[in-house]
Amino acid sequence: MEQKKYKRTTVTSALPYANGGIHIGHLAGVYVPADIYVRYLRLKKEEVMFVGGSDEHGVPITIRARKEGVTPQDIVDRYHQLIKDSFEEFGISFDVYSRTTSKTHHEMASAFFRKLYDEGKLTEETTEQYYDEEAHQFLADRYITGECPHCHNTGAYGDQCEKCGRDLSPTELINPKSTISGSVPVMKGTKNWYLPLNEYQEWLKGWILDGHKEWRSNVYGQCKSWLDMDLQPRAMTRDLNWGIPVPVEGAEGKVLYVWFDAPIGYVSNTKELCESNPARWGDWQKWWQDEDTRLVHFIGKDNIVFHCIIFPVMMKAHGSYIMPDNVPANEFLNLENDKISTSRNWAIWLHEYLRDFPGKQDVLRYVLTANAPETKDNNFTWRDFQDRNNNELVAVYGNFVNRALQLTKKYWDGVVPACGELTDVDRHAIEEFKDVKAKVENLLDAFKFRDAQFEAMNLARIGNRYITECEPWKVWKTDPKRVETILYISLQLVANLAIAFEPFLPFSSKKLRELINMADFDWSQLGQTDLLPAGHQLAEPALLFEKIEDETIEAQLKRLDDIRKANGAANYQAAPIKETIAFEDFEKLDIRVGHVKACEKVKKANKLLRFTLDDGSGTDRTIVSGIAKYYEPEELVGKDILFIANLAPRQLMGIESQGMILSAEDCDGSLSVTTLLKGVKPGSQVG
Ligand code: 2FM
Ligand code: ZN
Repeated sequence: MEQKKYKRTTVTSALPYANGGIHIGHLAGVYVPADIYVRYLRLKKEEVMFVGGSDEHGVPITIRARKEGVTPQDIVDRYHQLIKDSFEEFGISFDVYSRTTSKTHHEMASAFFRKLYDEGKLTEETTEQYYDEEAHQFLADRYITGECPHCHNTGAYGDQCEKCGRDLSPTELINPKSTISGSVPVMKGTKNWYLPLNEYQEWLKGWILDGHKEWRSNVYGQCKSWLDMDLQPRAMTRDLNWGIPVPVEGAEGKVLYVWFDAPIGYVSNTKELCESNPARWGDWQKWWQDEDTRLVHFIGKDNIVFHCIIFPVMMKAHGSYIMPDNVPANEFLNLENDKISTSRNWAIWLHEYLRDFPGKQDVLRYVLTANAPETKDNNFTWRDFQDRNNNELVAVYGNFVNRALQLTKKYWDGVVPACGELTDVDRHAIEEFKDVKAKVENLLDAFKFRDAQFEAMNLARIGNRYITECEPWKVWKTDPKRVETILYISLQLVANLAIAFEPFLPFSSKKLRELINMADFDWSQLGQTDLLPAGHQLAEPALLFEKIEDETIEAQLKRLDDIRKANGAANYQAAPIKETIAFEDFEKLDIRVGHVKACEKVKKANKLLRFTLDDGSGTDRTIVSGIAKYYEPEELVGKDILFIANLAPRQLMGIESQGMILSAEDCDGSLSVTTLLKGVKPGSQVG
């Protein structure tokens, strides 16, 4: 099928909730790929608008405000600013970043709802909901706690039990209580307005399942599983006092559902931008209601149903809007093999990264794209971050650029030499990189950012190979004319790198363009071999990237370790005391003091240490213990420890273990060997 030609592209990226910062999961899943895509389109001189903003309604914001004793407005003011500033510093190049508490947005979302209401596109339904008679309000699911019917955790919420992870509905809770007043809520009828998704099911099937088979398989698959079930009408209003009032008589105390108003935020923010500069952007309708506009939503996988089903149905019901052409949703990014979690503070926060790694925006951008969770969940580790910086950005990209610039300075005073006759080696290098434009372009058009960045990096690999093969420092002595050609070609490659990496690593591209004095550039020049003409003066060489040392990474790992420990301690519940035993049973255990004479790692068993103990008997005793993760063997040598002396011997990795070293298990699972406060003779009995 031939691709439709569009005049312009509207790119949206999910509006983050303004009740916390932005973390690497958000960046990898949504904002970095969206930014790469938009920068690429701009470089191609296409007409594009990049829309962002904060999502400032919804229950979690009210809960946070209540906890802190401030208003929801205070919360969103604080985080909107934090998020906006950190995006800007990180180079996420929104054309507009506004907020859903703006006047424009309230008016637009209200009018949108009112149109659907007036045209009979919404249905009304009265349902029974929990009501707090003391606080005089209906309770959102999160405002009700009680006992989980599955695991009997008494602090479960009306929508979920955080202990066993099950989704719940408030009526399932045993002994429900309102978190606002503490009173027992009662059931009371309430009227809300619903979007009858069921009426659009056939249309959705045709539009997505038949019409968009090219969507990413994770997105298509999720849509299919929704559309294979019967869609149900979905409430578009809520009984809540934070949000956009429902613009209908008799709807006092109700607001629009946050997932109704948030996607309209994309449109309101567009409108704000257009009205602030109509000469540049035209009218907002052009970006949302013109068939020649292509709409692309960048989101995380938890937002798929809202962007592929609910928002399209809202727009279809409205009647004037275009549908998204693609929704390149990503899977999730884990941190050090553990799910990112805001409540557990298990995250790398953008504002903290910017503080700890000033000027290193591109390193994080590079690593997040190299590990982009495009087809499956992926993992971020600080060691990988360091390796990719040191072994790829520094050793490949930076190294090639530096070699080319330093050699040119040394042999030609920083002036681009003329290109002489080409040899086979030159022709081969040129051959290798001339189709980079087509390659990167095809991948970016298909939203394959990880592979596209890899292709860009290939330019530097080609460059390094070329210089190594040509050995200009040797040839210089015999054939300086030849060196002119080698440098000329190397410098063209350097200029190509500045273009190819601009969407991915904009800060480094800017710096590189300054180093080579390259003012104007665009995507069409990629692959060319005459970007820097002979006689062109370069600036003083400088390093593009710098090595990241072990100490820097260790400091970050320590921070995470502290968080893990704090989480372990916060959730720690001492295990229940075991059944009572008779004194005679205790006396059967022979616990003794042992002096550690030697300790070593057991080969091929990363958990085990082998102890040689003086147990007072005159014969050494061997005990194997599973504590290698928590101690270096030398830390334990010379210590007096406690061990069980009369445990039946066991074979561990072919070694007979004659007893057990006593240790305490901390809340995070780490083991701590019991030692003595005062010196006591080996073999002394404990009891
Ligand atoms: O999941 C979220 O973080 C939502 N705030 C995303 C909203 S996207 C759009 F609809 F605004
Ligand atoms: Zn539970």
